[in-house]
Amino acid sequence: MNDTQITEKLRAAGQLQLLRFYDELDDREKQSLKDQIIQTDFSYLSRFSSKDNPASRGVITPLKAMTLSEIACRQAEYEEAGLKALASGRIAAVCLAGGMGTRLGFDGPKGCFDIGITHPVYIFQRLIENLMLRVKSCGRWIWLFFMTSENNDEATRAFLEEHKYFGYDPSYIRFFRQEMAPAVGEDGQVLLETKSRIAVSPNGNGGWFRSMQSAGFISLLQEQGVDFLNVFAVDNVLQNICDPVFIGAVLDSGCASGSKVVRKNSPDERVGAMCLEDGRTSVIEYYEMSEAMRHETGPDGERLYNFGVTLNYLFRIPDLVKAADDKLPVHFAHKKIECVDEEGNRVMPDQPNGWKFEYFIFDILHILDGCLPFEIERNKEFAPIKNASGTDSPDSARELCRMNGIIL
Ligand code: UTP
Repeated sequence: MNDTQITEKLRAAGQLQLLRFYDELDDREKQSLKDQIIQTDFSYLSRFSSKDNPASRGVITPLKAMTLSEIACRQAEYEEAGLKALASGRIAAVCLAGGMGTRLGFDGPKGCFDIGITHPVYIFQRLIENLMLRVKSCGRWIWLFFMTSENNDEATRAFLEEHKYFGYDPSYIRFFRQEMAPAVGEDGQVLLETKSRIAVSPNGNGGWFRSMQSAGFISLLQEQGVDFLNVFAVDNVLQNICDPVFIGAVLDSGCASGSKVVRKNSPDERVGAMCLEDGRTSVIEYYEMSEAMRHETGPDGERLYNFGVTLNYLFRIPDLVKAADDKLPVHFAHKKIECVDEEGNRVMPDQPNGWKFEYFIFDILHILDGCLPFEIERNKEFAPIKNASGTDSPDSARELCRMNGIIL
């Protein structure tokens, strides 16, 4: 793209203000701003201005989960089918590690956080150790992908290399970067983080498929006969990756996806619950549920919206390819965004001053045909690290590790 085309791209998107300080920049800064403009996808903005906000929901109804007792009845059968699928190389693992980890407040990629007490035990190490159990039981290496973002890509790669991938065979590990989305002020104009840099943020955990596809990994996997992806969050140190029982149950169900869910520990637990929306799989966020909905029970006395998502999904690749994720809604989050004002002064807001755009992974469930919600024992498999202290923190995760005999 030459300079005229760059200006045209901005004009078409109504964002010429991004060149406001251009004449003050040195050559290196000018080039870096131009490169960023070329890379930036401004199409998020049209979704914002048309207020195509997914906050308006369809008709929400309950979705039954496969419960622990139902799973127990067919455990051996599912496990055998799952191990067979793993042993024939049909399943790959994808770790979503592109988030900002703002709540934890750790200065580095979340996976590099050390939860050890007597010796270092990193989050990435815990995940890899868990996957290694599976590699041992199925007798072959499983492809392991890490989605990073611009903010943490280099640090993530360097950390894993330095730690020799915690014993995983590096020839089965690949990285890809997720896309960044521009952030806008209250007026819908894209903000500048500095005079020479657009304010951008990772485009949400739902952006993984498009980014993985653009990196060429989906076609590579399909050529190798991989037809399911187990996609999971970086922050659960008890994450059971490529669980054969889960895989076997999803294969048996014929659904295009599966979701590991936990029974909510109270109606008010701040976790999204599986449901149907206009008859298709969906997730309702805790803040979207009315008091009545949170407590509503079915004939068996079970709460109807009682199964929370843990961000561990199985997706059938051909269905993902067919579903074309350009149908995914863009969510707008009102956030504090560091930026420069019209005079070029640094702004460090203490209140939300703009909007970030994100795709959510659970919207992918909605565009696929069918999802099996599969219950897991939360004390055995769910130890997320979200906050610096209290619920879902390093301390709560350490306690759960201790309960599971993991020496920290
Ligand atoms: P969270 O929603 O907990 O976000 O991500 P976060 O960025 O890690 O933490 P906060 O909200 O800033 O405190 C759930 C999972 O999705 C990944 C995260 O890395 C985590 O594994 N994620 C999230 C991405 O990979 N990319 C994103 O843009 C957002």
